[in-house]
Parts: sequence; C-alpha cells; structure tokens
Amino acid sequence: MTIRAPKGTLDVLPPESGRWRRLLRAFDDLSERYGYALLLTPLFEATELFARGVGEETEIVEKQMYTFADKGGRSLTLRPEATASVVRAYLQAGRSGVLKGAYSGPMFRYEQPQAGRRRQFYQVGVEYLGEPSADADVEVIEVGYRLLEEVGVAEVTVLLNSLGDPADRAGYREALTAYLERRADLLSPDSRRRLATNPLRVLDSKEDAGVVADAPAPLDHLAAEAAAHFDAVRAGLERRKIPFQIAPRLVRGLDYYNRTVFEYQARSYTAAQDALGGGGRYDPLAELLGGPPTPGVGLAMGADRMVAAMPEEAVGEGLDVFVVLADSSRREAALDLTASLRAAGVRADLDLAGRSVKAQFKTADRRGAAVVAVVGEEWGRGRVTVRSMAGGEEESVPVAEVTEWVKAR
Ligand code: HAM
Repeated sequence: MTIRAPKGTLDVLPPESGRWRRLLRAFDDLSERYGYALLLTPLFEATELFARGVGEETEIVEKQMYTFADKGGRSLTLRPEATASVVRAYLQAGRSGVLKGAYSGPMFRYEQPQAGRRRQFYQVGVEYLGEPSADADVEVIEVGYRLLEEVGVAEVTVLLNSLGDPADRAGYREALTAYLERRADLLSPDSRRRLATNPLRVLDSKEDAGVVADAPAPLDHLAAEAAAHFDAVRAGLERRKIPFQIAPRLVRGLDYYNRTVFEYQARSYTAAQDALGGGGRYDPLAELLGGPPTPGVGLAMGADRMVAAMPEEAVGEGLDVFVVLADSSRREAALDLTASLRAAGVRADLDLAGRSVKAQFKTADRRGAAVVAVVGEEWGRGRVTVRSMAGGEEESVPVAEVTEWVKAR
C-alpha cells in the first residue's frame, strides 16, 4: 500500500459508520422537528468571505485555511466553518426575515492533528437568522443539548457567556488591554501582536491560558440591553432544564459573535478539554459581509467528537433480517423475498457470493441481523424457515408471513 489518506483525515467504515449514521439521522430528525430546513452551501468559497466573516486576526484565518488559486486565478478557500457561508447565501438570495436552516458536512482547518482534532472534520449545525430574541438563543442551545441526549452522550454541561455588543465593548477592551499590557512580557508573540489589534483574541489563546485566567471578563462590562438578554437566556435554559455553567472567559475563536456564546462539554469526552460543539449569537455578521443588519444565532457540533463520546452500544449497522440461500437453484426466490422485505420497510440483505450456509450464517451474525430467513427446498411448498438470532427459536412459516414474523421480533 503506497497511497494513504492525507494526514488529519479520516475514513469511516462499518461497524464504526453505524454510529455516524445514527448521529446524522438523529440530527436530521431533531433539526426538522425544531423547524430547521435543510441548507446546502459550497465546500469552497471566496477567501474573502472568511477573512471578513470569521475575522482576519483569528487563528482560523491566520493559520488554518486551505487556500488556493483556481485555474481562473480566483483565491478560494475550503470552508473552515459554515456560518459565514449560510449568511452569505441568505444575503445573496435577497432573503429577509426569519430563515431557520440545518446543515451537515465536512469542514477544513489546517491544524496539528491529535485526538478529536482533524484537518477535515465533520460538523452538524443550525442557524437561526432574522430573530433577535433571547428565546432563539435558548432554542439553538437546546437543539445541541437534545442531540447529545438522543445519541446517548451523558452528563453534558453547557458553558455559557455573553460578550456584550460591539458598541458597548470599548470599556471592556480598555480594561482587558490594561490588564494584558501589564503582563505583556509573559504573552506569546501572537498574543502580544493581537493585544494591539484585537485583544479579545488573546483570551482564546491556549498558550496564554495561565495569563488570561484572571483577566477582566466581558460579563462585568455588559450594557443594560445585553445584560437583560443574558438574563433571559439563562432563565430560558432553566425553564428547559438545560444544565449550564457561566464561563466568564469563554470568547470562542471567531470574530463574528456578540452577546451569547456557548460550548458543550461532556464527562465522557475530555480529550484535550475540547468542546463537542459550540456557537453563539452573531448579529454583526451580515453587515461584515456587506448586507443589511440581520440578527442571527447558531451552533455547530463536531460530529467526529460526538461519535467518539457516544456509548459503545450505539455501534453496529443492524439488519432486521438476513436471507440465507440454502438451495442454490432458488437464488431468484431469495432475491425476490429480500426485495419484498425491503419494500415492506424491513432492513434486509443477503449474500450474493454463493457461499456455504454456515458462512452465510456467520455473515448474518457479523452484520447484526436479528432474524435469518432460510430459502431452501421447502420454498417449493411456499415456506421459509425463520430463526431469531438472539432467542434461537426457529419456525417454518408461509412466505407471505415472513415480514410479519420479522417485524414481531
Ligand atoms: P467552532 O467552535 O469553531 O464553531 O466549531 C464547532 C465544533 O466543531 C467544535 O466544538 C468542535 O466540536 C468541532 N471542531 C472544530 N474544529 C475541529 C477539528 N479540527 N477537528 C474536529 N472537530 C473540530 C464554528 O465552527 C461555528 N461556525 C459555530 C457556529 C454556528 N456559531 C454560530 N453558528
């Protein structure tokens, strides 16, 4: 083998892919139940979209983008996240008012790969555009929380903070800058540079975590409106019984946020203390992209990390029935039976390789089939032998009753 997948990427094969399917399905159902329509946007965008949207001074834009010139000389970038794309699509389509959208797909960031940190990773996310109410923040936070609940990730806490509004940030910026300047010689070169341009970014520097631990917090500098919004978000989370902790120095690594920011952490997922997902309110983003003022709030969950945090029993592809061909002259009958089971909504499969009955049973077991249906000489009398793999009970039933038998298991 000479060709391997690029560093920081992942192949997902069965049985592991069973967990992915479970997660993606749960997200699809849940987001639809909460009123989010499906959104599809390109995997690559004009580089400028992320420079303006995510922010020139963020780690993502400075260091992690997959940027290239296409054959027409345009600077394009593989999307490092999808929020900027969603807002761009909304503006480009000339939409106004509320749009609730859900998306899932790969994102690309040139990072140092480690557990839970990849160069191509997969997100599922929702964006709630056009709604300034704190109840929208609560709903979005709830979507992520319920998703974790549904896929079996236990003991989840939401870390919550408010950054206030850009217009009110001058006082905070001053206090933070003064604090950091007093400790400038302890800061990394990147943070020292950002101190002059965008001091808030210093707060999410992992290298400087020790220095920023006691830095002034945005919460102490909220203007009245932002403070009331934050109170409403907290009250809403309490009403929905979503456990949260105030995280006064949580700022998140993207520049478009104002007010609410949040992340999800779980006891079962502690790799490098990384979040399973996160998001926040981004009212300034539409204007950063040249559009009219449009409030928005959203979240993205890291699917790679969620899958790692999902319990073992969630693994497995699962089949309701595996059709075993015991008489090779009845191949077509086995194909027909499988097709009719599938048409009846049953997950059914069979082996096309003409292997021994024993080998077919092994396959049925490996594939996690609940029932095996054996097509043999009794097919001539219109019957099939069905066997429950877990209970071991076995019965000869009329062909017309196989579906019912399988569904009853
Ligand atoms: P983010 O915090 O950059 O936010 O990413 C969201 C989640 O994606 C993270 O919490 C993490 O689970 C996962 N993730 C990020 N980078 C990696 C990586 N290199 N490898 C594996 N997983 C990763 C956003 O992307 C925002 N667009 C979220 C948002 C939506 N804000 C508002 N709307």
